Amino acid sequence: MEKIAIVGVGNTKIGEWYENSLRGLTDIAISKAIESANIDPKEIESTFIGSMSSGIFNQQEHISALIGPHSGVNAPALRVESACASGSQALRVAMMAISAGYYDSALVVGVEKMTDLIDIGDVTTALGTASDSSWELGVGATFPALFALMMRAHMHKYGSTLEEFASVAVKNHDNGSLNPDAQFRRKITMDTAMKSRIIADPIRLFDCSPVSDGAAAVIVTKESLAKKYTDDPIYITGTGAGTDHIALHQRPDITTMESTKRAVKTAFDMAKITTKDVDFIEVHDCFTIAEVITLEDIGFCKKGQGGKFSLEGKTALNSKISVNPSGGLKSKGHPVGATGIYQVIEVFHQLRNEAGKRQVTNNNVGVTHNIGGSGATCVVNVFSRGE
Ligand code: COA
Repeated sequence: MEKIAIVGVGNTKIGEWYENSLRGLTDIAISKAIESANIDPKEIESTFIGSMSSGIFNQQEHISALIGPHSGVNAPALRVESACASGSQALRVAMMAISAGYYDSALVVGVEKMTDLIDIGDVTTALGTASDSSWELGVGATFPALFALMMRAHMHKYGSTLEEFASVAVKNHDNGSLNPDAQFRRKITMDTAMKSRIIADPIRLFDCSPVSDGAAAVIVTKESLAKKYTDDPIYITGTGAGTDHIALHQRPDITTMESTKRAVKTAFDMAKITTKDVDFIEVHDCFTIAEVITLEDIGFCKKGQGGKFSLEGKTALNSKISVNPSGGLKSKGHPVGATGIYQVIEVFHQLRNEAGKRQVTNNNVGVTHNIGGSGATCVVNVFSRGE
């Protein structure tokens, strides 16, 4: 089976885009990706779009037809939905379609425009539809509340501390301050994080990713065509996905994510790597507890030690393992269905030494980790240069 190559990328800044529409944002991302790949849009044979909730956020469904043709890419288009992992799942579907021989190339887009809903309660409810509506959202358990339960359980079981969780936010804001496309480009102190307002005890404001707008696009081809478009394609050497129960109460242990473990195993086996080979990783830190659990589940540290690992500075830029060099969801922002594609774009730039002040020095193997809901879905991809 030929590997899949990324030959061009493009994205908008993440933030509040009052002045532009869902379609307008994707136009920006797609035209940048087309320019980056130096490809004629007519050569793109398929389009896959990851978006979580455009129906609720923007009263717009059928966005596959809305987006593709408008940007000059008149290829068959399909929307893929997997909550906050929609972008990564769209990429996987594109990879499968190319690998199966249906297409030679694909445009993969992630988009979400969340700030069209003015009331934060409405935003929280829209996001909460990715939990179990009967057992979670329906009884008032929003995502901050669900991740608060996971954080409390982790503190109880392993003795992790609020300071450890705050260190995740401080590190991600440090990295995000170096990212021109990030929503929050300011460094914060431990004191700022730890004294910020409570959102869902023990989760505070700085444990949360923000509400964001953004669109991101990548162009992928089969390996044998990649060099037609760029001298420096980036290859996806491994991919894996995992699914778990959607509701927390159905899982035996809420301090771990089985979906992550499953996705990592498949992706790392396919890429023939172990955790030790990973130079840097973009992980899904929708809340600081999610980054802590992920560090443990992937095996960068022992179970229960993710917070300590972070507080000791081992996840900082160019330390033991660079985690979220982009600033992560916390600082870069989290336009939910687009996040997986933004992660891929960060890895693309890092592997090509194009990441400016946040460039990681060890950059042979990069990984993305993208979850949906409270971890019921997970997609992990492994990337490298060369064949
Ligand atoms: N981190 C840091 N600062 C944040 C922030 C965040 N996550 N969210 C908002 N702010 C800041 C704003 O920039 C603003 O700062 P300013 O006063 O200096 O301009 C201030 O806080 C108030 O912003 P506002 O938009 O009114 O906050 P809010 O109370 O409406 O929303 C949250 C805050 C935490 C509730 C919201 O960001 C949220 O719901 N986050 C989680 C999103 C989520 O669940 N995603 C899916 C994950 S599975």
